[in-house]
Amino acid sequence: MDERSFTPAAGRFAPVRLYDPVVALTRERLWRSLVAMHVAPRPEDVVVDVGCGTGSLAVLLKRVEPRATVIGVDPDPEALAVARRKAAAVPAGGTPGGTSAGTPAGTPEWRTGMGDDLAAVVGAGTADTVVSSLVLHQCPVPMKRAVLAAMHETLRPGGKLVIADYGKQRTAAMRLAFRFVQLADGKADTQPNADGILPRLIAEAGFQDVRESETVATVTGSLSLYTASKP
Ligand SMILES: C[S@@+](CC[C@H](N)C(=O)[O-])C[C@H]1O[C@@H](n2cnc3c(N)ncnc32)[C@H](O)[C@@H]1O
Repeated sequence: MDERSFTPAAGRFAPVRLYDPVVALTRERLWRSLVAMHVAPRPEDVVVDVGCGTGSLAVLLKRVEPRATVIGVDPDPEALAVARRKAAAVPAGGTPGGTSAGTPAGTPEWRTGMGDDLAAVVGAGTADTVVSSLVLHQCPVPMKRAVLAAMHETLRPGGKLVIADYGKQRTAAMRLAFRFVQLADGKADTQPNADGILPRLIAEAGFQDVRESETVATVTGSLSLYTASKP
């Protein structure tokens, strides 16, 4: 993989339209809810979702706090097209396909860009929270570092980082389950995550208070939720 290419949402061999049904098998509602709990968006916040893919997390965060500015960034126009349709399908104050009425949720803003270009795409020092789910395991180690550095640059001082991704696979069952992801996304990029590299990379990017705040066992391996802040 060259420096500017990326692994698409559903991996190297499957079309983007298969992504949402597959990720639904990963206890998605549980771990996305935990991410939203840690992001805890406030009305004036600017929240940036890096590698937002088909937009499920950005749409959820906008539902949690409609007055927050939520910006989804992804290099894949096909994934962003799904995200736009998904956001447009959310009724006022409701969920896609739901019927509830209430405060219009509005939609996230969508921007095309790679994670390592984040500061140029969104603006250095502009974000209160940067969040990212299931992205770094798809990136080569130099790109993981570059994306984390760009996240740091994009956050304001005191801003919050929330990352949900495959982390250290601590049991034989989780290592076995994670092989499905390794098949789809390649071993070279995914194995460092399984070996537990992320907390070190997050700290080396300049973040403080780096914590593995949650772990969720799924049929595709153990997901970790890392939180940190910019000094
Ligand atoms: C597995 S999908 C996760 C999508 C979404 N965050 C979610 O939770 O469903 C990974 C996404 O990361 C994007 N991606 C891959 N490499 C990236 C990079 N270097 N910078 C930003 N996004 C990247 C892909 O285009 C894809 O949409």
